[in-house]
Order: sequence, then C-alpha cells, then structure tokens
Amino acid sequence: MNVSTPKFAPVSKDVLAAIGTDPVPAGPYYQPEYFELEREAIFKRSWIQIGHACEIPEPGSFMVRPFEAANTSILVTRTKDGAIKAFHNVCTHRGTQLVDETSGTRSRFSCPYHAWTFSNEGDLVSAPDFEQFYVDKNQCSLPAIAVDVCAGFIFINLDKSPSQSLEEYLGPLAGELAGLPHAEATAFSEYVYEVAANWKLTYDNFQENYHLRFIHPRSGEAAGGPENPFGYPVKYGFHDPHRSQTIWSNPKPRITPFQGFAFGKTAQFVLQDGFRLDAKEYFGIFPNLFILGTAMTPFSQFIQPITHNRTRSVIRLYWIGEDDSASKRFAREAAMATALDIHSEDRAVIEAGQRGLASGALSHIHFMSQEVLCRHLFNQVNQRVEAFKAERLARGGAL
Ligand code: FES
Ligand SMILES: [Fe+2]
Repeated sequence: MNVSTPKFAPVSKDVLAAIGTDPVPAGPYYQPEYFELEREAIFKRSWIQIGHACEIPEPGSFMVRPFEAANTSILVTRTKDGAIKAFHNVCTHRGTQLVDETSGTRSRFSCPYHAWTFSNEGDLVSAPDFEQFYVDKNQCSLPAIAVDVCAGFIFINLDKSPSQSLEEYLGPLAGELAGLPHAEATAFSEYVYEVAANWKLTYDNFQENYHLRFIHPRSGEAAGGPENPFGYPVKYGFHDPHRSQTIWSNPKPRITPFQGFAFGKTAQFVLQDGFRLDAKEYFGIFPNLFILGTAMTPFSQFIQPITHNRTRSVIRLYWIGEDDSASKRFAREAAMATALDIHSEDRAVIEAGQRGLASGALSHIHFMSQEVLCRHLFNQVNQRVEAFKAERLARGGAL
C-alpha cells in the first residue's frame, strides 16, 4: 500500500531552534503600555507602507492617510517632475492639520486657519501679512518624511535619518517584490474594515493556516485536502524582520460550479494582463503589511494599528487598466466578494481572541510549529521593544 507523503514541509529543527518553542507572553497582545512602546520602537522608525503609486498617478495628485500608531496624518504628493514626496499633514504656522480631503489633484495646499499656502514640494509659497512674523519663509516648509517606492508600494519612514534605505530594509525581498503583478498595477479594489483587536492578533490570523478548516469551511480551495488536511504551506522563509511562505495548492479544491465559473473568469483576465498563474508566494513585510503574489489574487493587506485594541485592515486586489467589459467587471467583483467572505469569517474569531486575552486570565499563549510566522513576528516586535527600553534607560529617560 502506498503511503502518501504530506506535500507540506515540516518546520526544520534549525528554524525552531532559532525562533524558539517556548510559550509567548500574552501581555504584548492587549496591554496599552506595550503599544506605547511599539509606537516608538517600531512605527516611528520602520519603513511603513502607506499607499500605492497608482493612487497618485500624475503630477499634482495627492493623498492623505491617517497613521494613528505615530499620532500623525501623512500627505503624499506627486510633484511636477513626477517625484513622490511625503510630509506630515501639519501647517507650520500653528500646527493646524492642513489637508482635509483624502485624495485629489492640487499643487497648492492652503491652510484653513490663516491661509498659509504650501506647494506640493512642501515650500511655503505665500502667507498673509508675512512681514509681521519673525521667521523666514524657507524655515517654514512642511515637515518632510522619508519616502520611497518598491513594487509600486509607497513606503514612508518617520525616522528623521532612517538607519537603512528602503532597499536595504527589504533586502533580497526588494527584488522579489519588484517582479510581482502589484508593481504594474494601475487600479485596485479596496475594502477597509476595523477590528476590535490588537494589530498583532489581527496580523497573526493571516499568517497561519491552522484555523482554515474550522473557520473557512466554505472557501474550499483554501482549506486542506487529504494530503494536507490543514492546508499548511509548502515552505517558510525568514528574511531578517520579514517572512515569506509558499502557499500549498489543493489539487482537488472543493468548489461549487459558480465558484469555478468565477475563478475561470478571473484567470482569463489575469492571464491577459500578463500575470503568472503559478506564483504562490506570500510576503510578510515587517511590521504590518503582507502581500500575496498569487496571480489569481494580486492582493495586499495593510494592518494598521489605531490603538492597542483597535486595528484597521485595508485589503486590496490590484488590477491593470479599467474594468471595461461586463465580464471583466464580474471577474473583479467575484474575486473581491471571495476575499470579503473570508475576511468576514476571520473577524469574529480575531475579536473573540482579543476579548479573551484582555481578561488577563492568561500569562502566556502557545504557538505550534506551523504557527512559526506568528512567533517570528512576536520575536521581531519584542526585540525592538526591548532594544528601545534599553536605549531609553541608557539615556536616563522614563519608560
Ligand atoms: S495654523 Fe495654518 S495658517 Fe495659521
Ligand atoms: Fe482566516
């Protein structure tokens, strides 16, 4: 009798030795004071994805994005020479938030309070009765933020002098991301929802497959088959703070005829756009972005902390060109509807997890070997939090 070997890879002893197997403290997943440390140790000094280049396609385009984890709002502009710039969305006169709209096309921004007016390069170009001030205009530019682009994704870094460029930060993943369909995208479908849970708890739900067969019994393709009942990945990768996995494909997905029809339509347009259908990569970019490189779902999820127990999830499916036929429109809507189904199934368990942890009943939680990506995220977060605490102590500052 043939014994079929599992098609998923066991996590190697070397990986487990490096990443650990001990219980993980529960406090970082619900304590407000831990989140305060994360703001400083992570969100104010890492490269954070804030949008995509296709959102500001032409000179004069701009967008404004909230960034609660750093208590700020970010203005991203495209200047007349096509460059992308980022600023704190704050008027340098007396600090009023400068731009109210979330996006548009404008090369000048006028403060609603006293009409100081800035160019999309950040310069103060006019200010009423400016002779009565005691400062030069060139000292009143908008506070600039480091910004760079990889695979179309716009990243910012609030550190005044980031210790690494975006390319250095992404390391070998920079090249891999550049080859993804997202890099060519000109449009996307988006769904934004808030979860009453910590950002790490929210993220972890999307980096383990242990829950798929229990929470997503309807999404047949995602759930496992006889060879791999939990649908575990084929491979894991660890790239400094970042992670990757190669997703297992169920050779005999349990899908309804309607799902088959919808997937077929999506595949048809994905192929027309020149995307590959065989890519199965998942990239977890530290701290709060993950990208699916699968061509059927050129997907990203941005997991944005709002408070210690509230998170905004931004999910996107990227496309090339407009949905200019009924068939293409249907294919895109069907792909998004599938994503919505899966996310609505996840949301309730993520929130239940937060309620349980916030009771304080548990001192620790447990990750098994196939939850190694969750453990890796915790390790990366905690290393930075501990380093930040040491840095503050060395400076004699309070924690
Ligand atoms: S605060 Fe902006 S012009 Fe006064
Ligand atoms: Fe899920």
